[in-house]
Amino acid sequence: MEPPRGRLRWLLLLWAAGSGLLVVLYSALEPHPSPGAQARNTTLSRGSIRLNTLNFGTRKGHACPRPLRQAIQQHRHFRGLFNLSAPVLLWGGLLGPELWDSLSRHKAPYGWQNLSRQAITSTLNLLNSSESAELFAAPGDLPRPCIRCAVVGNGGILNGSRQGRNIDAHTFVFRLNGAVVEGFEHDVGAKTSFYGFTVNTMKNSLYTYWRLGFTSVPQGQDLRYIFIPSDIRDYLMLRSAILGVPVPEGPDKADRPDAYFGPHASARKFKLLHPAFISYVTKRFLKSKLINTNFGDLYMPSTGALMLLTALHTCDQVSAYGFITSDYWKYSDHYFDREKQPLVFYINHDLPLEATLWRDLHKAGILWLYQR
Ligand SMILES: *[C@@H]1O[C@H](CO)[C@@H](O)[C@H](O)[C@H]1NC(C)=O
Ligand SMILES: *[C@@H]1O[C@H](CO)[C@@H](O)[C@H](O)[C@H]1NC(C)=O
Ligand SMILES: *[C@@H]1O[C@H](CO)[C@@H](O)[C@H](O)[C@H]1NC(C)=O
Ligand SMILES: *[C@@H]1O[C@H](CO)[C@@H](O)[C@H](O)[C@H]1NC(C)=O
Ligand SMILES: *[C@@H]1O[C@H](CO)[C@@H](O)[C@H](O)[C@H]1NC(C)=O
Repeated sequence: MEPPRGRLRWLLLLWAAGSGLLVVLYSALEPHPSPGAQARNTTLSRGSIRLNTLNFGTRKGHACPRPLRQAIQQHRHFRGLFNLSAPVLLWGGLLGPELWDSLSRHKAPYGWQNLSRQAITSTLNLLNSSESAELFAAPGDLPRPCIRCAVVGNGGILNGSRQGRNIDAHTFVFRLNGAVVEGFEHDVGAKTSFYGFTVNTMKNSLYTYWRLGFTSVPQGQDLRYIFIPSDIRDYLMLRSAILGVPVPEGPDKADRPDAYFGPHASARKFKLLHPAFISYVTKRFLKSKLINTNFGDLYMPSTGALMLLTALHTCDQVSAYGFITSDYWKYSDHYFDREKQPLVFYINHDLPLEATLWRDLHKAGILWLYQR
């Protein structure tokens, strides 16, 4: 799973359920992407869907056998947690003094406290089309088809799983961080509709998993990027990506966004998770005990958790592949590891809590969790 964000990213704290802090390790590694981390368009677009040419008009597959909305309504506990009206994405149309006041009361990733107002407003002003407000939309007033989403985490449980075909059969496929696809298509599929990340986790993934095959961020004509705003870095990278210019300041200064997202990436290619959505899912679903420790400021849901919760708030059916299960110790940390590595429990996430949530949502029929 991914290392902590910010300067403490290499402060590695191992933590396991019920046993408290185990080990503290420091590393002086500088997590810059290796020089080879250049744009390289991969074959990923092969399987990806044209969002605008989805066949929204046909009757076939129109009705969902059991939409997750219905499963939520029927569940005593989850009915009170889910708010499917909560806005998932942030875009220019929401910008105003009220939003500024409410978000500047909280630190990133839950708000904008102490972040540059100019940097944020200039970024949001570029996300000014209603397309930026939605992950995907049915054109016109055609009835909404059954949108089935697969969210693919990077867990070792997928090694040898042969789930590639099942994953690719979903309407949309979400991937995140070090999502190596080439060479693993049988197990993880080839289609990528959305790639989710923070600039920190994206660059850490390129740095850490380069030798395991993660040599570029997934690219493709129909692929959309979901920025998780965990830092001002994310707003700055997003703005530069839309403008097609190098990052002007901060730790990513002079980075060329096209090296990550490919050339000619316009605003429609990028989505930005709403800080209030991150705050809502954290409070309702992943309110970890870590929040009240000295590490509370570092804690946030994992990238995988945020992508899975995003899918649960936007799709009609959701399958989760490569997410933590109770028998995680049987599997390597990642499906692309060459040798078995134990799963690392970083102090900035609460994976045991996430495991319980996925198990309970699966039991409730709200999502389907791949297990073996
Ligand atoms: C759900 O979210 C919407 C939009 O933020 C809000 O207006 C509404 O009050 C929320 N409903 C509940 C029950 O929390
Ligand atoms: C934010 O800024 C205020 C005043 O400039 C300062 O007191 C506070 O410590 C800062 N908070 C963070 C999280 O940096
Ligand atoms: C959105 O912003 C761009 C750049 O500032 C501008 O060219 C465009 O006209 C704006 N579009 C709308 C719908 O406001
Ligand atoms: C990949 O690059 C080649 C050569 O530059 C180009 O012809 C092709 O259209 C690109 N594919 C994608 C998916 O961007
Ligand atoms: C992946 O699965 C194969 C076959 O089941 C096994 O031999 C190999 O050790 C596994 N790789 C890791 C990293 O666990």
